[in-house]
Amino acid sequence: MLALDQLTVDIQNSRILRGISVEVAAGELVCLIGRNGAGKTTTFRTIMGYLTPVSGTVALKNASIVGLPTHKIAQLGIGYAPEESQVFGDLNVAENIELPTWTRPQGRDAKTRIAMAYEIFPKLRDYATRGGSQLSGGERKMVSIARALTLDAELLLLDEPFEGLSPAIIPSISDGIASIRRLGHGILMAESNIHHIPEYADSLYVLERGEIIFAGTPADAHASSEVMNIISGAA
Ligand SMILES: Nc1ncnc2c1ncn2[C@@H]1O[C@H](COP(=O)(O)OP(=O)(O)OP(=O)(O)O)[C@@H](O)[C@H]1O
Ligand SMILES: [Mg+2]
Repeated sequence: MLALDQLTVDIQNSRILRGISVEVAAGELVCLIGRNGAGKTTTFRTIMGYLTPVSGTVALKNASIVGLPTHKIAQLGIGYAPEESQVFGDLNVAENIELPTWTRPQGRDAKTRIAMAYEIFPKLRDYATRGGSQLSGGERKMVSIARALTLDAELLLLDEPFEGLSPAIIPSISDGIASIRRLGHGILMAESNIHHIPEYADSLYVLERGEIIFAGTPADAHASSEVMNIISGAA
């Protein structure tokens, strides 16, 4: 569904991504793990069209999306929940969640999409009329992921969905991600902490200084002392 092939990206004349190749098939949970500064967010920003690669391709269903504006990429069905969540403070929770049904009318009908988001994050119903600026970090994460869902995205990019969350809230986000995958959506998730990688992840890529140094199953990663040395305590 999504294929990054030999993607190389510079920011201000510094090479940040060095020929990375990553694939996500429909319905798969793929994790991109790497230390702070490895290039995870840069990968997501390149997929979403905020950055233009020096070379290499980003393809969605075998068609290149390089050079398309961000809103077109979202309309094609990639939902992005950035690291810092970006919930609209002036809108309430319900409005934040409904917004993508306006910006991307194609897909299932709005009611179905909104119902699906609340089904995955039932706690958000209690906050429906709460202003976006009056939420905790964990609540903002849920709104941000729910909003990627109401886009009816076939593929979700989740940048560190567990970052900064208390252990108490992590299970509800984790259950939400498992439900999203069960619905058949592909997910590419970035993490800096190996302990946050769900055991049901289909594959895992380790990013180190802009290079993919390992690709395989979570079990293979755990079995490799070299990989574990790099990513254990990577947070
Ligand atoms: N706008 C920018 N200007 C200059 N350098 C940048 C910019 N954005 C990112 N970088 C650099 O690119 C590298 C990769 O950053 P990126 O945000 O992709 O890392 P990350 O893997 O997401 O890290 P983290 O786990 O801290 O979120 C870092 O060295 C960072 O300093
Ligand atoms: Mg990041």
